[in-house]
Amino acid sequence: MKTDHAESLIDALNTIFGRHEGYRASHAKGLGVKGVFIPTDTPGDIKVPLLHNRQTVKARFSVGGGKPGISDKSPTVRGIGLRIGDGDGSWGLDMISAPVFFANSAEQFRAFLAARQPDPVLGGPNPERVKAFNAANPNTLPHQRYMAPAKPK
Ligand code: HEM
Repeated sequence: MKTDHAESLIDALNTIFGRHEGYRASHAKGLGVKGVFIPTDTPGDIKVPLLHNRQTVKARFSVGGGKPGISDKSPTVRGIGLRIGDGDGSWGLDMISAPVFFANSAEQFRAFLAARQPDPVLGGPNPERVKAFNAANPNTLPHQRYMAPAKPK
């Protein structure tokens, strides 16, 4: 369901990354693939009944952020989205390469972006606003610390 809240989140992403018609507002760069999941000879090891049988898989590998032309070496998270099986009984999974995430709600995600909106005078994020956001939202810091030294090759 599309709500004002969802739209304000997309607007906030677009203000940071630009609006790119036809692309996702987040994880804009990606590659879709399809394949087949084949269980091992000992399916009893797997606790998910769906995975006891061969299944079709659709997947999308993505680079975090909203820029479709972003470098594959950019220091952002990598994403993988999976759709295992078909129809009502299928299983959807969205995962990222980091063990922690910076926001605990869509509202905090939006506020995180709002604090980084380009300042018209500075031409980039205002460090004072970022600092104030970080101080008020300490749960967002472990993800920022985890990503800081990331250097994808
Ligand atoms: C407040 C939390 C979150 C918000 C607001 C959010 C928002 C978004 C948005 C707007 C998109 C683009 C969707 C589209 O246009 O189809 C997206 C994609 C994605 N998100 Fe999140 N996200 C959140 C948390 C997470 C978390 C916790 C993970 C993984 C652990 C995650 C993984 C992904 C992946 C992998 C994609 C790309 C999916 C694809 O390739 O189709 N997100 N997210």
